[in-house]
Amino acid sequence: MIDKNLLLENYKKHFGDEEPRFFTAPGRINIIGEHTDYNGGFVLPGAVDKAITMAIKPNGTEYVNLISVDHDDAALFFRIGGPQPKEQWASYFYGVIEEMRERGAKVGGFNAVFGGDVPLGAGMSSSAALECCIGTALNTLFDLHFTREELAKIGQMTEHHYIGVRCGIMDQFASLFGQKGHVVRLDCRSLEYQLVPFKPKGIEIVLIDTMVKHLLASSEYNVRRAQCEEGVAVIKKYLPNVELLRDVTIEELEAHRDEIDPMSFRRCAFVINENKRLMDACAAMEKGDFVEVGKLVYATHEGLSQEYGVSCPELDFIVDIAKTHESVLGARMMGGGFGGCVIALVKKEGVADYIADVKEKYQLKFDKDPRVIEVEISDGAREI
Ligand code: GLA
Repeated sequence: MIDKNLLLENYKKHFGDEEPRFFTAPGRINIIGEHTDYNGGFVLPGAVDKAITMAIKPNGTEYVNLISVDHDDAALFFRIGGPQPKEQWASYFYGVIEEMRERGAKVGGFNAVFGGDVPLGAGMSSSAALECCIGTALNTLFDLHFTREELAKIGQMTEHHYIGVRCGIMDQFASLFGQKGHVVRLDCRSLEYQLVPFKPKGIEIVLIDTMVKHLLASSEYNVRRAQCEEGVAVIKKYLPNVELLRDVTIEELEAHRDEIDPMSFRRCAFVINENKRLMDACAAMEKGDFVEVGKLVYATHEGLSQEYGVSCPELDFIVDIAKTHESVLGARMMGGGFGGCVIALVKKEGVADYIADVKEKYQLKFDKDPRVIEVEISDGAREI
């Protein structure tokens, strides 16, 4: 987490000596269950010890004054109810406020300095962390009484309406509901969830960032979502109770293969299989069988790469290297795709070897260094 004192100093420098309050919200990892959330399926994320943190205080005006530490202390202000700022980082604030106002909340102006250590573009949901940090702070400071579930939806709808990404709810939910040492088994339709202890003996989570930030990420994301909806629309003609891919079995999809665009068919098949893999992984985890979990994780990567088309050569390369290490039980790209990082489940004794091997080969092949990100599963959004 970014140093609180750094934020405080910065706050005092820009806004005078008043004492602000501090809020933080984490990024997330996801063990398995990718691109299932907007299809009403299941996901298995956990909040991590990398977060967006904010010093903030109401200022009694209708203006929001912001300083972004991660953008070289860029300063920006906007009027609540005025036009949306052009800068994306400020749009998260604008969006959360508008979504809250839409739900009847009275949000006043404030001063805020914020920054974080969630690696940007790594597929660890730095944007959801920011939305959830803003949401938690405003909810507390203006006594708004939104539930955590509502805050998750406010964050998600900020993405839809003010950023242009039709994301699911996994990232915001993990950032708000995460708990140290646990992953969240979330039903993305009902939003029922269980906190599942996640401390596999002798196994570490290793994240390796490709350092690839693909510009297509948000546009292609929306295309995938539309392809899933296309498949559902066909099935729905025959099975009117079907609302989301979650409701469709692979047999039902197969039965209507001829009527579905071949590309959309592959996308839909991936999602249905991925949801099943998550169920199987949960069952294996219950038995402590991480060898099986690992196999499913590899299968997820194969599907994301070949069927869902959201991987890239750098991600595939890091996963391929994993397969040559017996100590790596499973590895896959994580998050929306087109760059970002690989998550691997690795036996402790093999972690150093795997990382060294990836670093060397990746540098040779792509002429750049990957970044290793150490994480611990931690608590969700809160005042600190
Ligand atoms: C992004 C989105 C999530 C989810 C993942 C893929 O992180 O924000 O809602 O769809 O991609 O699983």
